[in-house]
Order: sequence, then structure tokens, then C-alpha cells
Amino acid sequence: MTDAEAQGTVGLRTLTRIVRGHATSDGAGVRLTRVIGSPELDYLDPFLLLDEFRSASSADYIAGFPDHPHRGFETVTYMIAGSMEHRDHLGNRGVVDRGSVQWMTAGRGIVHSEMPHQEHGLMWGFQLWVNLKASDKLCEPRYQNIPKDAIPEIELPNVTGRVRVVAGSFMGERGPVSGIAIDPVFFDIALSPHTLEEFTIPETHTACVYVFEGSARFGEVEDLSKKVLSRHDLGVLSNDGTKLRVQAASAGVRFLLLAGVPINEPVERYGPFVMNTREQVLKAVDDFRNGRFVSESAS
Ligand code: CO
Repeated sequence: MTDAEAQGTVGLRTLTRIVRGHATSDGAGVRLTRVIGSPELDYLDPFLLLDEFRSASSADYIAGFPDHPHRGFETVTYMIAGSMEHRDHLGNRGVVDRGSVQWMTAGRGIVHSEMPHQEHGLMWGFQLWVNLKASDKLCEPRYQNIPKDAIPEIELPNVTGRVRVVAGSFMGERGPVSGIAIDPVFFDIALSPHTLEEFTIPETHTACVYVFEGSARFGEVEDLSKKVLSRHDLGVLSNDGTKLRVQAASAGVRFLLLAGVPINEPVERYGPFVMNTREQVLKAVDDFRNGRFVSESAS
């Protein structure tokens, strides 16, 4: 028996890196914490960006994200508290409110605004950008607007905790987000103090965790003894193995578990345009400026 077998760590992913989100602002002046898409961690294939916005002060969010384009990837908005109103150039309009998710495949192009649907109170949520492979970058835009009640919330059987399954499968329940190329796992997991639990991650997937309340240890026993991740910490996991071990610290923990099949293609990004080559990015800018961005002639 090897040490790994003796400790029951066969197939466990280890924690390879901790990246702390940093304060910045975007849109018309929304204060947020950027976790992926920063100089420290530009890209975690297939994830291009992860932001958390959380404030009870309307000055931090009221300016919102007025009209702006996206091309070549997907944006995911997941709300913990408060609500955000979305409008696009095609006349689509919707509100993403507490506990709900919008998975938008921008594809060849969307021009939209994302504005607070409230004047005060807590606004708390996430935006994740998911890359598309070259053959999908100019696909038709698509929305999946998923209300709170359509997201399975599963109580853990042996410990105190629960998992909201936005995408992927957990204990036989499938999340409502479907037909996404990277086969995403998007779980919102809450564990009570000192809980030890394991989660399954497909072997093919890049995976990370982002702690947004409390703190916890992730990975092998060896990791568990050392590194505690707390609010604003992203933990990047090793690429091998199918299990993630988590031990909540004394205040419990709430975190996102995100995983997806890496795309392994060149990434050329310029703000809201994410393509494979410089030429494609320049064409996206040109198409947008000349009103061809979202029209039939975009290709
Ligand atoms: Co947007």
C-alpha cells in the first residue's frame, strides 16, 4: 500500500495555486473583486474572467454596466442577493434576481446593458466568462434564463450542508444549464463548521474553487494541514483525479466549485471581444463600430 492509498488520497485533486481576488471597478463604475482575468491569473482555460460584486452601498453598483458588446464567449451571471436587469439589442429583457442564473452564449455578438434593478440594499453576485472554441465563436446568440426554483438545492446526506446545482450533476440531479460545449460544473456549496466532504469532478475538467463566505481547506491531507482559503481566495486544482476534498473551518464555508473542459486554443482578447487571432479581434472591433456586429452579415 502506498502512502496515498493509506491516506485514501488516490484520485484526489490537490491545490496547486491560491489567487486572491483584487478590488477594481468596471462598467460605468461598479466596484467589484476580480478573481480571474487579472494580471495575476489572466485565463484558467476555459474560464476567461470571474468577478464578484458585493455591496450594500448603492454608490458601489448603481451606475451598472450600460450598453456594451460581447463576442466569442459566454457570460454567466449568478445572483446571491439583489437583482440585475438585462436588455439587449434584439429586444430581449429580463431580470436576474436572487438565486437565479443567466447563461448567455454571446457567440457572434450581443450588445446589452446590465443594470441594477434596485436603488438600495445588498447587491451580490458573480459574473463568469466562459470561452468558446473556434468553431463556436460566431454561433447564434443564445440565452438560458434560469429562475431560482429551477436550480436543484440538495441537502448533503451525511453532513450539514447543501449544494445548489447550477450546471453539472450531483447525487443524480442535473443542473438546468444545458448544451454548453465545455460541459460545465457550476456548484454553489455551503458547508457547516468543521464539515469534511468530497465532491466528484470529471477527470477531463479544469477545476477551481472560489470562497465567498467563511473559510475551508481543500485538497489532500497534506494540503489540508496547511492552507486555509478564505473570502476572495480562488484555489486552482491539479488536473488529475476525480475527487475534491473540502474541510470547512470553524465558521463554515460557502464557495463556488467551477469546472469545465479546457479548450486548448490560442486566446486573443481585447475587452469584450475574445477570439483566436489578432485579425479576428480587429474584425470584431470593426464590425461593432460599423454596426455589423450583430447583423446577419457578421461573418
Ligand atoms: Co455584459
